Amino acid sequence: MRVLVTGGMGYIGSHTCIALYNAGITPIIYDNLSNASIRVLDQLEKVTGSRFEFILGDIQDQQQFKLALMQSKVSAVFHFAALKAVGESTQQPLYYYQNNVSATIAMLQSMQQCNINHIVFSSSATVYGEPEYLPIDEAHPIRANNPYGWSKVMLEQVLHDLCIANPQFMAIALRYFNPVGAHESGWLGESPNGIPNNLMPFIAQTAVGKRNVVSIYGDDYATKDGTGVRDYIHVQDLAKGHVAAFMHHKHDTGYHRYNLGTGRGYSVLEMINAFSASANITIPYKIAPRRTGDIACNYADATKAQQKLGWYAVKTLSDMTNDTWRWQTNYPNGLES
Ligand code: NAD
Ligand code: WQD
Repeated sequence: MRVLVTGGMGYIGSHTCIALYNAGITPIIYDNLSNASIRVLDQLEKVTGSRFEFILGDIQDQQQFKLALMQSKVSAVFHFAALKAVGESTQQPLYYYQNNVSATIAMLQSMQQCNINHIVFSSSATVYGEPEYLPIDEAHPIRANNPYGWSKVMLEQVLHDLCIANPQFMAIALRYFNPVGAHESGWLGESPNGIPNNLMPFIAQTAVGKRNVVSIYGDDYATKDGTGVRDYIHVQDLAKGHVAAFMHHKHDTGYHRYNLGTGRGYSVLEMINAFSASANITIPYKIAPRRTGDIACNYADATKAQQKLGWYAVKTLSDMTNDTWRWQTNYPNGLES
C-alpha cells in the first residue's frame, strides 16, 4: 500500500514515515520544505535503509497536488503539512487560514476527484482550549483561542461534514497533546527555525549552550509546583499511533477522532530536572511572567485510543529527554549545519 504524506519532511511527519515503512506501508512525501531540510531524506534512509520518494510541492498549488495524487497512485493521505506557531498565527491569521484551511479544502477536492477517500489529519489538543475538566476526553467541548487552533477546529468540522456528504469517505483526526523527543537512533529530531517557541527544544538548546537560560513562564499556577503542566508524548509513540489508527479504520468510512497523549502531565520544572538528568548538566532557568494564552494544565484521557486501536504510549519521560539530548548533541545546529 502507498500513501501520500504531506509535510512528511517535518518533525512528526518524518517520524511517522518511519513507522509507516516499518508497518509495510510505502510513504510518498509531499513537502514544500518551508520548515524542513531536504537532508531529512538522507536521515530517513540512514534509519530505514530505504530512499523514500519525495515530491517538492505546495499543498496550496491545487494542480500540483492533484498531479502528485494521480502519479503516486496512493490510496490514502496522511496530512501533516501546516503552519503551527500559535503566536505567529495571531499576527498573521490570513496566512494561517490560507495555508492550513483553504489549502486543505483544495486538497480534499482533489482527493474526491481522484477517488481517494481516506485521510489521517494532524489535529491538536489546542482545539480543547481552556479545559473544563481533566483529563480531557474526545467529548470535551472544542473551541480554540488563537487562529492556529481555530484552523484545526475548522478542518475537523470540514472533515466531519465531508464524511456525512460522502458516505465512502473516511477521516481520522488525531489530537496530539505535546509531542517531544527524537528518534532513538539520534539521526532525526525536531529542528525549529530560530528561537524555539516550545519548551523541550528550548531546554535542549540551553543544555547544549546555544541558549543562555530557560525562562519558566509563570510559577504561580494551581499545579503541583506552580509551573505549567502538559501531557508530553514521545514522537515515536505518536507516529505509531498514526499507523494504529489507519490500520484499524482503513476499511471503514466516517469521521473518527482520537486523543494521542500519555494520560499524565509533567510540569515545566519536572521537564527541566528530567533533562538535567539525561544531559548530566545543571540547566539554568529563571522565573518569567506568564505567557499570554497559556493554560495551567492539560493532559489527555487516552483510553479511547487504547480501547479501540490497541495503542498507548510506552516511552517514558527519560526516553523523551534521553532521545532529545542524543539528537541535540549530534546536531546542535540542526541538519543544515
Ligand atoms: P513541522 O513544521 O515540523 O512540519 C510541517 C511540515 O509541513 C514541514 O516539513 C513543512 O515544510 C511542511 N509544510 C508546511 N506548509 C506546507 C505547504 N503549504 N505545502 C507543503 N508542505 C508544507 O511541524 P510538526 O511539528 O511536524 O507538525 C506536523 C503537524 O502536526 C502540523 O499539522 C501541526 O499543526 C500538527 N501538530 C503539531 C504539534 C507540535 O507540537 N509539534 C502539536 C499538535 C499538532
Ligand atoms: C509547554 C509548557 C509553557 C516554553 C504548544 C502549542 C500547541 C501545540 C503544542 C501545535 C507551558 C512552558 C514553554 C518556554 C516555558 N502545537 N514554557 N518556557 O504551549 O503547551 O503547546 O505546542 O499544535 O498548539 O500551543 O507547548 O512547549 O510551548 O509549552 O515555561 O520557553 O512550557 O508555559 O506551560 P504548549 P510549549
